[in-house]
Amino acid sequence: MSDQTIASAQDRRGQGGVSLFLRRWLANPLQMGSVVPSSRALGRHVARLVERRDDEVVVEIGAGTGAISRALLAAGVPVDRLVLVEIVPEMAEHLAASLPGVHVVTGDAFDLVASLPRRMHGRIGTAICGIPLVLLPLERQRRFVDQVEAVAPGRGFLLYTYCITSPLPWDALGLSARRQAWTPMNFPPASVWRYRPQPSQP
Ligand SMILES: C[S@@+](CC[C@H](N)C(=O)[O-])C[C@H]1O[C@@H](n2cnc3c(N)ncnc32)[C@H](O)[C@@H]1O
Repeated sequence: MSDQTIASAQDRRGQGGVSLFLRRWLANPLQMGSVVPSSRALGRHVARLVERRDDEVVVEIGAGTGAISRALLAAGVPVDRLVLVEIVPEMAEHLAASLPGVHVVTGDAFDLVASLPRRMHGRIGTAICGIPLVLLPLERQRRFVDQVEAVAPGRGFLLYTYCITSPLPWDALGLSARRQAWTPMNFPPASVWRYRPQPSQP
């Protein structure tokens, strides 16, 4: 099958995604954080910021119906190097059915150490966060940062957001922050931030 055929087959299977997304938003708006999936434009911005050595995986946390995941695959992340973490079982099933070959984990962003197979710990080139962290209290945000650090030491993570300023209090969380992309071609317009652990003081 050609790359184009695979891509259009994935698109067709992904079409149920919008109604599933909306249904989940109605069921739990705070967990979803958005009414509609991310746009292709936002996906392309995220994908261009991915850093990965050949032996490393990319982990997308809060993969939803796979809008960003498809952009990562289209940008060249190998199917067997993409790992999706999604807390809603129905969405995880949708991801596994629509993106064959991708490793889908039904798991919790706040429990990445247990959710991700041990062989992947320390083998993560880029972690991408799609969960609405901005809505959470500082101690939950800290828990997420600590979990990422435990499985991807020193790497930090990318976070896409609708906030204009940093959605995380980066200094309080011991992180450095850089906004690396912005696009109006998303509803709502979105930025991509890169957070990394601050170097420890001597
Ligand atoms: C804003 S949506 C992003 C979906 C998709 N990545 C996109 O860009 O269209 C947030 C996703 O994070 C998932 N999510 C929320 N809390 C989570 C958690 N604690 N662990 C894993 N996934 C979570 C939700 O179920 C939802 O699919």
